[in-house]
Amino acid sequence: MTYQDIYNASLADPEAFWMQAAEAIDWNKKPSKALFDRGDHMYEWFADGLVNSCYNAVDRHVIAGRGEQAAIIYDSPITGAKQTISYVELQTRVASLAGALAAQGVTKGDRVIIYMPMVPEALEAMLACARIGAIHSVVFGGFAANELAVRIDDCQPRAILAASCGVEPGRVVHYKPLLDGAIEMADHKPEVCLILQREQETAKLIPGRDLDWHAAQEGVPPADCVAVEGNHPAYILYTSGTTGAPKGVVRPTAGHLVALNWTMKNIYNVDPGDVFWAASDVGWVVGHSYICYGPLIHGNTTIVFEGKPVGTPDAGTFWRVISEHNVRSFFTAPTAIRAVKREDPKGLERQKYDLSGLRALYLAGERADPDTIEWAADLLGVPVYDHWWQTETGWTIAGNPAGLEALPVKIGSPTVAMPGYDVQILDEAGHPMKPGELGAIAVKLPLPPGTLPTLWNATDRFKKSYLNAFPGYYETGDAGMIDEDGYLYIMARTDDVINVAGHRLSTGAMEEVLASHPDVAECAVVGVSDTLKGQSPLGLVCLTTGVNRPHAEITTECVKLIRDKIGPVAAFKSALVVDRLPKTRSGKILRATVVKIADNQEFKMPATIDDPAILDEIKEALQTIGYAKG
Ligand code: COA
Ligand code: AMP
Repeated sequence: MTYQDIYNASLADPEAFWMQAAEAIDWNKKPSKALFDRGDHMYEWFADGLVNSCYNAVDRHVIAGRGEQAAIIYDSPITGAKQTISYVELQTRVASLAGALAAQGVTKGDRVIIYMPMVPEALEAMLACARIGAIHSVVFGGFAANELAVRIDDCQPRAILAASCGVEPGRVVHYKPLLDGAIEMADHKPEVCLILQREQETAKLIPGRDLDWHAAQEGVPPADCVAVEGNHPAYILYTSGTTGAPKGVVRPTAGHLVALNWTMKNIYNVDPGDVFWAASDVGWVVGHSYICYGPLIHGNTTIVFEGKPVGTPDAGTFWRVISEHNVRSFFTAPTAIRAVKREDPKGLERQKYDLSGLRALYLAGERADPDTIEWAADLLGVPVYDHWWQTETGWTIAGNPAGLEALPVKIGSPTVAMPGYDVQILDEAGHPMKPGELGAIAVKLPLPPGTLPTLWNATDRFKKSYLNAFPGYYETGDAGMIDEDGYLYIMARTDDVINVAGHRLSTGAMEEVLASHPDVAECAVVGVSDTLKGQSPLGLVCLTTGVNRPHAEITTECVKLIRDKIGPVAAFKSALVVDRLPKTRSGKILRATVVKIADNQEFKMPATIDDPAILDEIKEALQTIGYAKG
């Protein structure tokens, strides 16, 4: 069957298509049907089935005789550690950790926050939760205590699993003090924290609340897999929205299993036993779907890489890992490839390694620029597939179904819609647009299995954020077009979300933090072009009348404030004091115009601008910090 046959079948008869895909999953009780229409444009998949994610990701492979196969290869160039964990070992480790959680009273439906670096225990923590039906919520290590506190209050975890520290180039990230600070800040208090003491740092445990990761497992019976309903949340993953409050994307258990399993062969073209590597972090959706669940559900070997594309120790690290562990399919963000290219433009490091096992490179998380794609394709001699998806969907909306039928690559396009995604381009009034016309990218409901059914404890926000703009459609928040051949092109976000080094950040959240500075009367944060990270945040601040401290002092404080409140991941390095911000007559800040000026791009004077003269002032101010030059 061709891609087109499969795609058409998925839209013509989703019930048959997804029930067939569900055959690849081991159910405790098979679902009676695939789609459950809950009314008011709300849907669930496989809701009345009974299933366990950990069983499907671990136990079933042991039962099927794959116990000795490597499940996880941990490769940490930053600490020098390497470890291989077979499926049977993983089963023992996860059952033991799940037993410790159960012994602490964690049970089906309880939330558990995981705040950990890229170590195998992070995956074991996720799987241990899944084993007993607890709902995990992983928080990326680059977020500050305040962001962790917001998530603690929103999902109200009974337990937190954390490591004593993370290791970034040149510094140890002290996770435990961040965790303690977050718990102190939060209104909700977890009952217990299990702390993995790493060699690099031993954290102080708080008696009565903190337990040592290993000690907590001693003398405790291992836990068995608990079957959960198909619509039981497997996890909550917070992602940036327009405001400071992150959105808790809910991932339903059964749809997640069925969809991810389908993607491993059809998109990533790996067979059980093959080594698959996604160089991301467990804190992001890519880490959930393609470091932890996808490869393990499908019986692949996954790599947990604790390092950076460059500097750990050099720009050949990726190629070394691919060669050493015989990686078949490799997935990373374009930024990572740009970082390697910047350091080693001639690709000399690559020559040191035998990459003959590699079949393709997959890029996602941000726009893949043609230069990066071409450079990587030349260097590696394998196809480079861009693919587009979001935290909300959990898997590819548009990609190249290489394992089914490799479609011709058109550079600049992540290729075509995947099964179940009826992707359309709509105008402002919600009418479908013609091929080649730019509009809002929307997906006709229902979304396929594995995608978000709602936001955690925020159904109204879910509807407002995704369903209300175009009734009957899911609004992706991206703008783009579809060409005559059905290839999709992603051009820009339609909201205030920016993408920095493949990390999704909210300019609104940063503005809320800057506005809390006592000397800041008004501010705007915009995403300006960055040759390495795609975009980087820039803050413009207007000072409160009467403040006459040196501007450099205030901007340094602004940079520190964002690092302290949101975290280093915001990569907020520049702020600029301006007299006033460009606005429309109704008072809306013209952020897009500021970006165009900063990036030195042509722009049309906004018809609604209050005072056009201000744009020259902004340009001059931007030039003082190196922008708007040309
Ligand atoms: N814990 C604590 N801090 C972290 C962190 C973590 N897990 N991850 C990143 N940070 C910190 C970094 O140390 C850096 O701090 P600094 O300002 O003190 O230097 C800051 O957050 C910004 O990090 P980043 O944006 O990653 O920039 P960088 O300069 O350290 O590295 C790249 C640049 C390109 C090498 C890096 O961004 C990269 O590997 N990108 C790929 C992104 C990716 O895989 N995205 C996942 C989506 S698929
Ligand atoms: P996240 O939820 O962090 O995965 O971010 C999702 C957003 O990143 C999307 O809505 C897009 O704006 C952007 N994005 C992800 N993948 C791509 C891609 N392949 N091309 C262009 N933009 C992308």
